[in-house]
Amino acid sequence: MKASMLLSWGALALPGVFATPRDEIEPRKGSNSFMGSNLYFLPGLSDQDQDNYINNLSNYGVKAVRVWVNRQAAGHCEKGSNLEVDVGPLEPELGKFDNKTLDAVDKVVNKLAKKGIKSIISPHDANSLLDDYRKDVYTKFGKSGFYSSDEAIKAYDKRIDHILNYKGAHSGKVWKNWSDAIMAFDLQNEPMSPDISVCKNNDQKNWLCGRAKKFRNVLGSNNKIQIATGGIGGDISHECTFIKAATECPEIDLIAIHRYAGSQSNNPGQWSGSATKWVQQAGGKLIFVEEWGVNTAVNSAKSELPAQANDINKVGLPSLYWQFLPKKTCPYDPSQDSGDNFGIFVEGDVDIASVVKGASNANALQDWSKVIV
Ligand SMILES: *[C@@H]1O[C@H](CO)[C@@H](O)[C@H](O)[C@H]1NC(C)=O
Ligand SMILES: *[C@@H]1O[C@H](CO)[C@@H](O)[C@H](O)[C@H]1NC(C)=O
Ligand SMILES: *[C@@H]1O[C@H](CO)[C@@H](O)[C@H](O)[C@H]1NC(C)=O
Repeated sequence: MKASMLLSWGALALPGVFATPRDEIEPRKGSNSFMGSNLYFLPGLSDQDQDNYINNLSNYGVKAVRVWVNRQAAGHCEKGSNLEVDVGPLEPELGKFDNKTLDAVDKVVNKLAKKGIKSIISPHDANSLLDDYRKDVYTKFGKSGFYSSDEAIKAYDKRIDHILNYKGAHSGKVWKNWSDAIMAFDLQNEPMSPDISVCKNNDQKNWLCGRAKKFRNVLGSNNKIQIATGGIGGDISHECTFIKAATECPEIDLIAIHRYAGSQSNNPGQWSGSATKWVQQAGGKLIFVEEWGVNTAVNSAKSELPAQANDINKVGLPSLYWQFLPKKTCPYDPSQDSGDNFGIFVEGDVDIASVVKGASNANALQDWSKVIV
């Protein structure tokens, strides 16, 4: 009980939430927590595989899925899924847009919406700045230059404009006008993670808030679609998640936490014990865990997923798992994937449904009723 008191205090700073006298503070009613998954390659799956996966998530009670505007290479095995749809980059050249990339995303956002699942869309991946296999037209600006060059900023704002004004080939909806399906846009996936000195210095060029203003200008002030940080600096341990440049920016709505924690038995209460502090650090903004995963190389997903999820749900922290994977169609073992040990297959022996239900039944830590029901 003590924990929920403290947590309630954090939420009082929320704009639009009326302060209640101290002795009336109770766990919130009318706002439940929720759980979902990331799946950056959902647009690359065959129609049938998309339908099966989305059907499975829907059966589990999933409320949100995070998808990415990125390339997909057909004909290879991506985390246990045979990719069948080839998707090129949105910008083959800087400022030249190929709508086919967005068509592929529109298709899955539309399918998710028909099942009542909201999408969080990441418009670009900061890992593209690393000059590895993910490189793209923005790589040339450099790991920190991307966040300070006027040319890069101008180009990125054009990308934001294009994505928001895009009219779906499948949905027929202009994305900026599709709050029934789109819960939020990230500013980028893990901004500044390739060179965390940029966020450690509190984003001197005001990139984060500048891009959030851009999004909000195009969306309009009364638009329900939220603007999320996308996990500044990557994992929360890099200490950029809550930098003032973001928490003091009025146009940023959601602080996305990315956290790959150790096993629950080594650190009991590692989620529930941190949530109060995070709410305080967020300065009145809504917080959610946009990426988390259990290390299946070290722990059994069967026991570790519920162990951590129950702790997350105990305080009503909304979360998206990295990643609930579609039923396996080609050889892949997450426990052997050194860079990404976190995947858990749907329809396997891990009880995903129970932890998702646990989230939906939990009172949310903060009031999400204006964002998602
Ligand atoms: C997953 O989807 C497939 C295809 O729709 C279905 O046959 C299967 O029963 C589903 N499993 C779960 C657990 O939802
Ligand atoms: C891409 O889509 C936008 C909005 O839906 C449209 O205005 C533009 O003409 C399209 N571009 C091409 C090359 O078809
Ligand atoms: C935006 O959506 C609303 C409600 O769905 C609709 O009435 C309106 O015509 C749409 N506007 C545009 C520009 O598509």
